Formats: sequence, C-alpha cells, structure tokens
Amino acid sequence: MKMDFWRIVFYHILLFFMSANATEDLDDPCISHLTLPNQEQRSAEYQLDIENDTAINDVMLPNGWYRFNTSNGDDMPTEAPNSLKCGTWYPIWLNDTLPLVSDGTSSKQVCMRSFKSDCLESWNIGIKNCSGFYVYGLISSTTENSAYCIGSKLVPCPYGYSSNTGFYPGCTMKFPQKTVGTVEVIVDLVPGPVLFEPYGNSLVTSFGCKFDEVFGDDGVKFVYDVQWSINGQKFILHTGKEYSNIGSTNLTESEWIGKHRLNMVVSLKDV
Ligand SMILES: *[C@@H]1O[C@H](CO)[C@@H](O)[C@H](O)[C@H]1NC(C)=O
Ligand SMILES: *[C@@H]1O[C@H](CO)[C@@H](O)[C@H](O)[C@H]1NC(C)=O
Ligand SMILES: *[C@@H]1O[C@H](CO)[C@@H](O)[C@H](O)[C@H]1NC(C)=O
Ligand SMILES: *[C@@H]1O[C@H](CO)[C@@H](O)[C@H](O)[C@H]1NC(C)=O
Ligand SMILES: *[C@@H]1O[C@H](CO)[C@@H](O)[C@H](O)[C@H]1NC(C)=O
Repeated sequence: MKMDFWRIVFYHILLFFMSANATEDLDDPCISHLTLPNQEQRSAEYQLDIENDTAINDVMLPNGWYRFNTSNGDDMPTEAPNSLKCGTWYPIWLNDTLPLVSDGTSSKQVCMRSFKSDCLESWNIGIKNCSGFYVYGLISSTTENSAYCIGSKLVPCPYGYSSNTGFYPGCTMKFPQKTVGTVEVIVDLVPGPVLFEPYGNSLVTSFGCKFDEVFGDDGVKFVYDVQWSINGQKFILHTGKEYSNIGSTNLTESEWIGKHRLNMVVSLKDV
C-alpha cells in the first residue's frame, strides 16, 4: 500500500518533467509548425492567371506557425511585388528584413499591396530563422483574395507541363517533351570566297553541329536553337532553325578571326 503511494508520486513527478519538456519543444515554432508544400505560385514572380487560376486567398488561413516548402525558396519578399503577383490579387510582403538566427522569434511588419498602394494595410507577423529555413507566425488576412508572398524566383511548370522556357507563363500539357540525343561538333573545310580566279573557291574552316533529328509524337517537326561557345564563353545563338537548314548555324572563320586564336575550344549547346 505504502509502496504504491510512492510509486504513484514518482510517476507523477516523472510525467511532470516529461510534459514540461514536451511543452518546451511544442513552444518552439522551429519544431512545431505546419508545413505547406507546393506553394510555388506564392512567388513574387508568379503572375495570377485570372482566366485559369483560383487566386490564393489567406482570409481563411488558420492563425499559426507555417513553414513553406517551395522549389523557389522560403524568403518572404522584402519589396512590394506588383498587384496580381504571388498568385493572388493583393500580395502581402515583408516591409522589413528577414531575421537572423540570433534574433530568435521576431515580430515584423507586413504590408498588403493594392492596385494603387504599396501598403494599403499593415500588421505584424512572427518570423523565426531556424538556421536553414524560416517559419512564419501568420494570421489570416482581412481582405478577400490577398495572400502572403513566399519566394521571388520564376516558377517552373508543374510536372507533365512545359512551356517555351519551362517556366510560367504559358505552361501547357500539349507541349512536347523531347530530348535531342548526342550532339557533336564537327569541323571541315568548306568552299569559301574566290580569292584567285584560276583556282576557284578557297577553302575555309567551318564548325557544324551534328545530331539526329527528333520528331513529336504525331510526327511534327521541331525547330532548334544552337548556342556556340568559344573557350567557355557564349558566343553566337541561332534560334528557330529547321533541321534541314542546320548548316546555316555553322560557325565560320569570319565569326572568330580577330577575336580568337588557335587552340580555342569550341562547344555548343542545343537549347
Ligand atoms: C487558360 O487556359 C486555356 C485553356 O487551357 C488556354 O487556352 C489559355 O491560353 C489560358 N489562358 C492564359 C492566359 O494562359
Ligand atoms: C519539401 O519538398 C520536397 C519535395 O517535394 C521533399 O522531398 C521534402 O521532404 C520536403 N521537406 C519538408 C520539410 O517538408
Ligand atoms: C538565418 O540566419 C543566418 C545567420 O544567423 C543567415 O546566415 C541565414 O541566411 C538566415 N536564413 C536562413 C534561411 O537560414
Ligand atoms: C515600411 O515601414 C517603414 C517603417 O515602419 C515605414 O516608414 C514605411 O512607410 C513602410 N513602407 C511602406 C511602403 O509603407
Ligand atoms: C557545316 O559544317 C560541316 C562540318 O564542318 C560541313 O560538313 C557542312 O558542309 C557545313 N555546312 C555549311 C552550309 O557550311
């Protein structure tokens, strides 16, 4: 009986310490937060597509600590993006600097951008630098179709979609995904200008790119961009050339004479 009493007291003390530890961890937003993945469209570079997107709307965002996991970073932009950026009508941005680890949990001012004003409304949020990522203590916005901005890079098309650049805008599923196989630089002597009539054409050095033509699934032809580099420096870019006309992208003497000497390294990239 007595034994049981002390055992119960002991367990209670143990439980007390365990829960004290647990609340300490739960209080640290670096450990206890919600992670929101796939928030690419919150980027300051992402323009809301009014026709096709539903604007991100943080009016319903439950108050709490959030970590954003996006392929374009988790920095809240510290300059006002234009309206309709950040995948919403009224972007919310940080009118301050991002904190250092040593700042601990900081309170910082955010501004909501409207069509006319950089800072129609402002309020404070929490931010903590967790050494490698930030967590944000957010409160719901009071304006419909306003949202917190995260990241400032171009937004890549989602998996299975593509565009001319691989980034928004213009991402479509209809964009064919094809890769050109091995590309080689070949060099040859081709007929050049006639320097001395009796001998006909002179011979000049010409670098060409060689690869196998690729076709779309429905047999459609592609055009190609050819980027020449000499000694690692981008040199000449040809765009939109048909395969049958790829010889017109050749690198010829007139393009390097006076600029490069022997032993230059010529390379190319198809884009
Ligand atoms: C919206 O989607 C339609 C159909 O998917 C497309 O034709 C149109 O170009 C898109 N609008 C914009 C602005 O990208
Ligand atoms: C972030 O997303 C990537 C890719 O989806 C995933 O591999 C990673 O585990 C995620 N990180 C966190 C902290 O959720
Ligand atoms: C966090 O703070 C450190 C210095 O304390 C800084 O170097 C770093 O860039 C900050 N940001 C992130 C995401 O870690
Ligand atoms: C940003 O904050 C500063 C200091 O609080 C304030 O003077 C300034 O007006 C704010 N910027 C904008 C665009 O409102
Ligand atoms: C392009 O260069 C390749 C390799 O030097 C050569 O065989 C081909 O004839 C050249 N084409 C033209 C149009 O100069």
